[in-house]
Amino acid sequence: MAADSPDFGAVDFVRYLVTSKWNVTHVLADRDELWASAAAAGYEVVVAIKPLEERDRQFAPPSTAPVAPERSPSPSPPAAAPAADSPTGLPVAVIRTMRLPYDPAAVLELTAALLRADPQFPSSGATVLDLGCGAGRDIMWLLHTFPDCLASAVGVDSWKGSCDRTAQAARVLAVTDRVQVVPARLDPFGAIKPAVPAWPTPFDWVLLHRFLPPRTFAPALHKFLNKPGAVVMLSTFQLPQGMELDEWMEKHETPTSLTNLLVPGELTRPLNARLLDRPDAEVIARASEWGWGFTKEAGYQVLRNETVVIADGRPLDWFVARKM
Ligand SMILES: C[S@@+](CC[C@H](N)C(=O)[O-])C[C@H]1O[C@@H](n2cnc3c(N)ncnc32)[C@H](O)[C@@H]1O
Repeated sequence: MAADSPDFGAVDFVRYLVTSKWNVTHVLADRDELWASAAAAGYEVVVAIKPLEERDRQFAPPSTAPVAPERSPSPSPPAAAPAADSPTGLPVAVIRTMRLPYDPAAVLELTAALLRADPQFPSSGATVLDLGCGAGRDIMWLLHTFPDCLASAVGVDSWKGSCDRTAQAARVLAVTDRVQVVPARLDPFGAIKPAVPAWPTPFDWVLLHRFLPPRTFAPALHKFLNKPGAVVMLSTFQLPQGMELDEWMEKHETPTSLTNLLVPGELTRPLNARLLDRPDAEVIARASEWGWGFTKEAGYQVLRNETVVIADGRPLDWFVARKM
């Protein structure tokens, strides 16, 4: 509910409904002052939601937010079933129409738009793997925004804090049955430690956003994509053609190592078998010879390989490829 006139505050309106014997279970307000006045009047603020911005509208599902009835108040209006799993206690129908309190990665939105328009991408039941998932922002946005298309997601991260936040976000959004959080490290020899006993490999969509695994993890990455139509989105900082690492650090400060920085052309070069069993440091030192193997010969079609400049001026590579 939003109050458009300053003379008719949302809290007063709720008071009016309650005194008229309405059973008001939830109030959705989209301005900070409304939250503040609700808290001042003794209402519990369960979850704060940022206003819907214009840029989200094209991806947001059609709004089914409840509208205020015109007449005949009833003491107990029918309510949607509560979300058993959500600590907010908000009904699933309400959670589904919420604006998330954070934005996904910009390249994820672009990739989602690309895949939604692609007849080869599954229209239901798709599985997503997010390697280096952080706080789960991107998989939450995907599951929340495309509930019909995406069935489930697995998030892997080596930092416990990231895994805890991802699990917490899944609980708040009532999607715990669709999210598997894996606290594990991708090692340079292609293993995920500790090993994951069972997950739905291969995946329909593998995400690596601002996370570059050890380069020799590449063969294991290809196993996750081993089915026709599987898509990888890899987006991380890239050294511009002709720029040395020192020059990059002088200009941008971080990342400070090629561990977290792509070298132009490496994604679409063939895997370099001579380097596959070398120590990570040696592979990084020879990054300009390295290839990730997203080649036509290995069965990949490159859908996007572009540079996107982020707000602080650093160039990110936006790479999307599909297994044929
Ligand atoms: C810069 S954050 C990006 C998080 C997320 N993808 C995003 O865009 O918000 C990189 C993440 O990768 C995780 N990470 C770093 N090295 C890792 C490894 N070897 N295995 C698994 N996760 C790792 C970090 O804990 C961190 O959460």
